[in-house]
Amino acid sequence: MSKDAFTLTRPDGKSMSLPVLKGTIGPDVIDIGQLYKDQGVFTFDPGFVATGSCKSDITFIDGDEGVLLYRGYPVEQLAKHSSFIEVAYLLLYGDLPDKDQLAAFDTSIRRHTMLNEGMLRFFNGFRYDAHPMAMLSAVVGSMSAYYHDTMNVNDTAQHDIFTHRILAKLPTIAAAAYKLTAGQPFIYPRNDLNYTENMLHMFFAVPAEPYEINSIAAQALDLLFILHADHEQNCSTSTVRMAGSSGANPYSAIAAGIAALWGPAHGGANEAVLRMLEQIGDAKNIPKFVARAKDKSDPFRLMGFGHRVYKNFDPRATIIREMCHKVLAQMGRTDTPLLDLAIKLEEFALKDEYFIEKDLYPNVDFYSGIIYKALGIPTSMFTVMFAIGRTVGWVAHWREMITDPAARISRPRQLYTGPKNRDYVALEKR
Ligand code: CMC
Repeated sequence: MSKDAFTLTRPDGKSMSLPVLKGTIGPDVIDIGQLYKDQGVFTFDPGFVATGSCKSDITFIDGDEGVLLYRGYPVEQLAKHSSFIEVAYLLLYGDLPDKDQLAAFDTSIRRHTMLNEGMLRFFNGFRYDAHPMAMLSAVVGSMSAYYHDTMNVNDTAQHDIFTHRILAKLPTIAAAAYKLTAGQPFIYPRNDLNYTENMLHMFFAVPAEPYEINSIAAQALDLLFILHADHEQNCSTSTVRMAGSSGANPYSAIAAGIAALWGPAHGGANEAVLRMLEQIGDAKNIPKFVARAKDKSDPFRLMGFGHRVYKNFDPRATIIREMCHKVLAQMGRTDTPLLDLAIKLEEFALKDEYFIEKDLYPNVDFYSGIIYKALGIPTSMFTVMFAIGRTVGWVAHWREMITDPAARISRPRQLYTGPKNRDYVALEKR
């Protein structure tokens, strides 16, 4: 293989030269765009294990080294020095904002937090026990029925209004879903509060008494949102790009992303981790559950372990584990059974031959639920919290996709394995 082209030789000896594309960092990519036209064959890659679906400037992951960069900045530096709103600006617009840009962006987000009252009435139609993710995807999808002025995907001026609107309203929608499950009245947003303080206010304030915002809780949420903000072409982001590639309005594309995030192999894993830890119950049961995770005849997997891209520590998990200790200590929790159990489970699995051989490490979802639980957020809301953080990543990718002149509708092909041509048989003859 030359550095700039890859030669594909067919069994009959004919060959084709495939261009090799180079990114700024990361492995080279073979461009197979002309393969079917020239050779009459498709490539086969279920789960897209070896397929790059697009060019992107937003996020870079080196899974072997455990590196995650947003627009070139290591996530560790952003987690230490930045805020979620600043990171959101960075992901959306490509560079860190100056003071005026940050202030203007922050003000705009604060001024878009209210929902159309008609959308609030939507919540009355859900059953009392509806999962908050079901409500989130339905209500975000319904935004396209309320905000018609941002539906023209070809008008870039509308992209900013859509962006600010959806970022600002996601916590309000999430809080409305939470209040419904808690059986409490909806609490309106307060624009004098910052993003995470306002969210805590909408979640936990009640009309009967004043609510004091816990600054540690607000900081912890801000950090979690930074760590969840983007992760290149993951399942939900690819779903947003794919849905949006047809020219569907952006609210529908984000609703599709929320639906994809809900699955336990993706964002639903944070909820599944907590339920798993509760099920394990005691450190003495760890060997039994790890044995089940290794047993191919048992569908049980160690939730919060393993990743398609990271074959080393997930850098986000390392930061969240540290944050877990800090949050629990600062909140005065000395008895931390779930955290203790999680640490013991991690230690046990990391020494196990199966997990070593398959490069299975804790991922972002392993420790995040322990923080959410300490903050009083119910388990069924964990994936909603992930969605709030990830929305900015989805939006950044949607904007990149929709303004890319080379973008086309996403339309993969298949290896057909069904029946060959056959003739219709009349019902009485079958
Ligand atoms: N427990 C036990 N075995 C596992 C696990 C696990 N958590 N994860 C992977 N394996 C095994 C798997 O059975 C397979 O074994 P074999 O080679 O013998 O068939 C091997 O490791 C490779 O796994 P895979 O399923 O082919 O890998 P994938 O890239 O398709 O899946 C994954 C990645 C994250 C879906 C998977 O590791 C998993 O199901 N983990 C548990 C769920 C989870 O924590 N998801 C959150 C992911 S991070 C946040 C996010 O994306 O939202």
